[in-house]
Amino acid sequence: MTEAIARFLRASLRSAAFAVTKAAGTPLQYAQDNLATAAAADFLSDPRFAEAYRLGLSTGHRFRSDLHIEWRVYTCCWAAAHALNLPGDFVECGVYTGITSRAVMHYVDFERCGDRTFYLLDTFEGIPTEQFTAAERAAGLEARYRYEGTFERVRRTFAAFPNVRIVRGAIPETLAQVVSDRVAYLAIDMNVAAPEIAAIEYFWDRLVPGAVVVLDDYNWLRHVEQRRAFDAFAASRSTQVLALPTGQGMLVKA
Ligand SMILES: C[S@@+](CC[C@H](N)C(=O)[O-])C[C@H]1O[C@@H](n2cnc3c(N)ncnc32)[C@H](O)[C@@H]1O
Repeated sequence: MTEAIARFLRASLRSAAFAVTKAAGTPLQYAQDNLATAAAADFLSDPRFAEAYRLGLSTGHRFRSDLHIEWRVYTCCWAAAHALNLPGDFVECGVYTGITSRAVMHYVDFERCGDRTFYLLDTFEGIPTEQFTAAERAAGLEARYRYEGTFERVRRTFAAFPNVRIVRGAIPETLAQVVSDRVAYLAIDMNVAAPEIAAIEYFWDRLVPGAVVVLDDYNWLRHVEQRRAFDAFAASRSTQVLALPTGQGMLVKA
């Protein structure tokens, strides 16, 4: 199916959903990215969020041109704003071109957080082939995700931030380059279970009490391997992952 037909179908489905709920008296406030809801979405009209989202989308991504992942990006902005009330550094594992991290940095004005470092970890060459399990391969993840060649772009995007540290290479090997022992914000988005579990195991004891961890893929049906792995991890730490309708998951360090 061509991109144009897919876009047309998405737009038609969205307007049909809007029409149905409007007729039922509950107009949708948000219908993007597999999430349709009549709940309030006030963040969409917040100028600070709008500019953060615009900057995130301006990082040179190669997804479709009408990408709408506002609610997922907003979740991360909220978690990062919450982290400003805690001591500690910020970390994103799985950066791609920096859509979310660039948005978050604007939203919390990270340039002014001179005493904190934002660590950005990625191979910048996609998911290492050997990290897919047989089940993830069978679910089509290896064929689906292509993220090569983003390093130069990311370097340029974050060059103006003296407190950003780009860590290039594969997790888990690069984790020790994050020297921080106090992390207040952690976002994990690598689309396969193995490096994500390595990351949460590395950072869990480094998270300060109250820190929020956002798992971008946790609640997507095709990412069941990650969901199972994080459920087992959370149980081993006597906690639970909060499943979000955005497809994300959330953990809070007690
Ligand atoms: C879905 S993208 C991240 C999107 C990003 N969070 C954003 O907001 O645009 C997944 C990224 O994870 C990276 N990645 C996957 N496996 C990795 C690993 N083992 N080590 C480091 N990076 C990895 C890929 O290179 C890719 O850039």
